[in-house]
Amino acid sequence: MLKKTVAKALSEQVTAEYYSAYLYLAMSAYADRAGFKGAANWLYVQAQEEMAHGTHILQHLLGRGAMPTFGEIKSPPSSFKSIREVFEKVLAHEQTVTGLIDKIASIALREGDHATYNFIMWYVNEQVEEEATASEILSKATLVGENTALLYSIDAELGTRVFTDPFAATTA
Ligand code: FEO
Repeated sequence: MLKKTVAKALSEQVTAEYYSAYLYLAMSAYADRAGFKGAANWLYVQAQEEMAHGTHILQHLLGRGAMPTFGEIKSPPSSFKSIREVFEKVLAHEQTVTGLIDKIASIALREGDHATYNFIMWYVNEQVEEEATASEILSKATLVGENTALLYSIDAELGTRVFTDPFAATTA
């Protein structure tokens, strides 16, 4: 059975992951309307990943005998100045999420919940990757500046991203 503090932190993270999905859907819609179909695809896949992250935490809660609480998912921003600004916000958002995940790891350790600590370590590692990827895209977008041809070449690269369920092996 999960301790209340751990269950609360995990439930809040389910909401946070679903907010992330909602945020990336809004960004994807902006990118689509701005003509960056590749970035729209990348952000849509990102939204799918976030839903998988949230659902996996929900399954952990249920698997440990806890009833999740479903928090409110706030409305995300949906207008941006540029595609570069979108990726600035992706990076800033992932940095915030890293802080939330680290907090859960600290709570799990404090409560002596090694199963949750072990579970959340996947997310700790995932956040390193999430920040690195967002940072790399942002650097490229910054380097090309206003060069439309190069910007569209980055967009084409982002268009190749395909969703794969990060937990397929564990949920099959
Ligand atoms: Fe669920 Fe983008 O981390």
